[in-house]
Amino acid sequence: MEVRQEAIVKKTDYKNFPMVPRVVFGRGSFDQLGDILMPERKHSEAPFIFLVDDVFEGNELVFRIPLIFNDQLIFISAQEEPKTSQVDALVKKIREDFHELPSGIVGIGGGTLLDLAKAVSILLTNKGSSSEYQGWDLVHNPSIYHAGIPTISGTGAEVSRTTVLLGPEKKLGINSDYTTFNQVVLDPDLTQGVSREQWFYTGMDCYIHCIESLNGTYLNAFSQSYGEKALELCKEVYLGNLTADESHEKLMMASWHGGMSIAYSQVGVAHAMSYGLGYLLGVKHGIGNCLVFQHLEEFYPEGVALFNRMRQKHGIRLPKGICANLTDGDFETMISVSLAMEPLWENALGENWREIITPEKLEYIYRKI
Ligand SMILES: [Fe+2]
Repeated sequence: MEVRQEAIVKKTDYKNFPMVPRVVFGRGSFDQLGDILMPERKHSEAPFIFLVDDVFEGNELVFRIPLIFNDQLIFISAQEEPKTSQVDALVKKIREDFHELPSGIVGIGGGTLLDLAKAVSILLTNKGSSSEYQGWDLVHNPSIYHAGIPTISGTGAEVSRTTVLLGPEKKLGINSDYTTFNQVVLDPDLTQGVSREQWFYTGMDCYIHCIESLNGTYLNAFSQSYGEKALELCKEVYLGNLTADESHEKLMMASWHGGMSIAYSQVGVAHAMSYGLGYLLGVKHGIGNCLVFQHLEEFYPEGVALFNRMRQKHGIRLPKGICANLTDGDFETMISVSLAMEPLWENALGENWREIITPEKLEYIYRKI
């Protein structure tokens, strides 16, 4: 007689994260987009919707977008952080323009455009407003196919399972297994025309991901391996002597690794405080992180010292007096948005973070900005 052995299973709760299943890397790879999308086309009535940063309006890049059938091109300004109302309006427009679900959404641009593409693809198959899904694992239905094509490097939005949106009540991501892109095209040539300031601020988002991940209490070998590689690449890009081509390629990979590093960990103090600035004043993510990070020697002494070296080398002057004319109520708003980012604080300062970071302490740092 066969004796059946009961499995001895100890329950663990490690997170089971999705990764981007397909990625193309290489200069000029953007021109493969038509071939990449073709098998994903449902039929001629189900278009691809291309959401494109409006800085490319009239640019030769637009003429390389493989539009066929009734595909739609929508130019979007990235001057402001992506909003839940913007996502809802795009979804409404797409539903009105087409009586069937699109074959997919393609985001072409920086973090703002990538996040909009992710959010729109989710909301096309999930009812209600995007603000209802800000949080962790609130999305019920799989999104439609979506592809991301970064034209500036640093945010890690191309690999992350979140899309950060400014909502009526909070600035928070839609963190879900359905958020992650189905396809990413990494073409370093697309990052050529970026201004020096923008290149610095967005690249520093990546650098700060590394510092916050590597100095966090959530650190583990998975995050560390990606974080260390990303940090090494950031140092080469911002302190080394690379050619322009090498620099574009390496920063693109730094962004990827930096994003992967925080997937299995978290960001920290700069991000938590930058969210407050973003929510109240609409300060964009990259520059917001820099504005905060320069004052965080207490938490990240070596990271801030290196940041200052990179800033000096590239002659970047951060604006001053951002919080000079704010009211007490404004500070309260920023502080409460920031303190609500509990996992970030716990990663940065440990379980007893509330004893270390108080509203007074946050106000003191905000006032320096
Ligand atoms: Fe970030």
